Amino acid sequence: MIRAERCADGASVLFRAEGATETDAVGRALAGILQVGDVVLLRGPLGAGKTTLARGLCGGLGVPLSLVSSPTYSLMNRYHGTRGAVAHADLYRLADASEGAGIGLDDVLDGGWVVLIEWPERILWLRDEASLEVTIEIAAGANGTPGAARTVTVAALDPELEDSLAQLVTRHGRLQC
Ligand SMILES: Nc1ncnc2c1ncn2[C@@H]1O[C@H](COP(=O)(O)OP(=O)(O)OP(=O)(O)O)[C@@H](O)[C@H]1O
Ligand SMILES: [Mg+2]
Repeated sequence: MIRAERCADGASVLFRAEGATETDAVGRALAGILQVGDVVLLRGPLGAGKTTLARGLCGGLGVPLSLVSSPTYSLMNRYHGTRGAVAHADLYRLADASEGAGIGLDDVLDGGWVVLIEWPERILWLRDEASLEVTIEIAAGANGTPGAARTVTVAALDPELEDSLAQLVTRHGRLQC
């Protein structure tokens, strides 16, 4: 079970994911409020679970999971899901912002795609284009070592998504994996 609660700012929701399956389930739940044209920023340190959550989003958007791989080296993968086209980018290896156009980012941001972006911090103006900002943190475990849980904070940067994001909590205060 994933716990979801509204943050005090009213525009964000906090999920607690106790393992990779739950991180995937948060992605699937979020996919339910997205439509083509939406841009999702996936933030968090190395190994936080950004790709895991992106796989859940892809699955929820109707992309066969057998096709979904990490764009760590390809920088951007494109899929055709039953709910529309999905682009999944990982900008970690981008040397500078101008390389974004070279990997096709500008094309998919022009519309017609749901765009998922890991390491969006590499291109500062991406935040102006984004619908949702997902920030994953690794919860502390025993003795200050990294634990097995993640907190996933989701902010609606597009005000039109605020209500549907809040409804996820009302509907699924506890999400079933
Ligand atoms: N909620 C969770 N609890 C524990 N482990 C998790 C959780 N979610 C994902 N993981 C695990 O964390 C590891 C890293 O996940 P993932 O590759 O998705 O991270 P990432 O943020 O995309 O990393 P990178 O910064 O290298 O792209 C994987 O082994 C994954 O199964
Ligand atoms: Mg990744």
